[in-house]
Amino acid sequence: MKRKSFIKNASAILALQTLPSNLFANSDFNFNYQLLNQYDKNSEDYWIQMSKMFQVPQDFINLENGYFSPQPLSTLAFHQKYESAINHKTSWFMRNEQSDKIEKSRSSLAEFLKCNKEELAITRNTTESLNNVISGFPWKKGDEVIIGNQDYGSMVAAFQQQVQRNGIIVKVAQIPLHPQNDDEIIEAFSKLLTPKTKVIHLTHLINLSGQILPASKIIDWAHEKNIQVMVDAAHSVAHIDTSSVIQKADYFAASLHKWLCCPLGVGILKIKQEHIAQIYPLMSDEDYPKNNIRKFEHQGTKPIQSIIAIEEAIAFHYTIGAEIKENRLRYLKNYWINKVKNLPKVVINTPTNDSERSCAIANFNIEGYKPTQLSKLLFEKYKIFSVAIEHPAINGVRITPHLYTLEKDLDALVGAVEELRS
Ligand SMILES: Cc1ncc(COP(=O)(O)O)c(C=O)c1O
Repeated sequence: MKRKSFIKNASAILALQTLPSNLFANSDFNFNYQLLNQYDKNSEDYWIQMSKMFQVPQDFINLENGYFSPQPLSTLAFHQKYESAINHKTSWFMRNEQSDKIEKSRSSLAEFLKCNKEELAITRNTTESLNNVISGFPWKKGDEVIIGNQDYGSMVAAFQQQVQRNGIIVKVAQIPLHPQNDDEIIEAFSKLLTPKTKVIHLTHLINLSGQILPASKIIDWAHEKNIQVMVDAAHSVAHIDTSSVIQKADYFAASLHKWLCCPLGVGILKIKQEHIAQIYPLMSDEDYPKNNIRKFEHQGTKPIQSIIAIEEAIAFHYTIGAEIKENRLRYLKNYWINKVKNLPKVVINTPTNDSERSCAIANFNIEGYKPTQLSKLLFEKYKIFSVAIEHPAINGVRITPHLYTLEKDLDALVGAVEELRS
């Protein structure tokens, strides 16, 4: 029996039995934001209150928020409440309420991202989303793809697999660390163009350095040449404005456990309607027609509470406001960079001359140190947690503040850099 019709029958039988009580009235958990809203969003006091909305580590300063974002207390409580409720309602929930909850999250997300919900799949992360697209694309032997030299390793590996399986050719654009203008970046791709170029893979906000690429312009340029664009937006959603990029990209993927502060294990895949049918999903699906975006959600049994919590995470994001959030994150990056960038021996690996080219994330080094050594010293001597980036294109320590990061945390970083470079 097909999975879907089995579910229908099972639901009908269950409907005759006594149903579990409704444990969770929708969105009845309201975190009290009133205290927060008494403060001016431009004042440090507002952000001190904000930091109380997170479980901030007390024994070290976490400046490695690029891996994933902690959930604010409101999302955490909402998530835990649903985890408990599903545990109580058991498979009854999965058979009767799961799909409505997923559809509700899809609609809220589509509104939030300003895209068509019929083009939006909820996945577990960017890696899964882009592997669907890269593995499922109808490649022909000799098709050419241009990727960037600072693209994320999992995506590079996914393309390399297609080199072996389907004989595609991968060319690598060298993205400048400190571009003077957008044309310089477009030139890095255009140099590699041939009549066989089929796809460009683009990282919107590069995780190694924090550099933001002019994705919207690159997509326009590629489309003029009939080339499809896959965008790795793991770090850009709910961090910087992605509205035009998500509309223009042929394929767009992000992880919501990064800057939207969702529970771990939720991501998105947005595909333009006209391309959906041609992509084979990583996990075969028999429930939906080929042109239905939901075919990419067939992951087996999954932690549905994380998907339900998306709505609460969006509510938290709106409590601050997208623009205020982005401005604060950029302010924090500038706060420490401006204090260290002119110090002798300090090297900044992030473009900082133009505010559009970076936001929260930045990367620096001190001459004479290996990044691993520097990051280790920052932790052991100053209790500052960062991550060392040792990559052919970039060597340095990545610093990623968050909404709960305060100026005093960055003063500690600046003090450490001053001491270590002298
Ligand atoms: C640019 C970029 N792409 C993709 C990913 C993968 O994200 P995830 O592990 O959530 O799939 C990351 C993770 O940090 C990343 O920085």
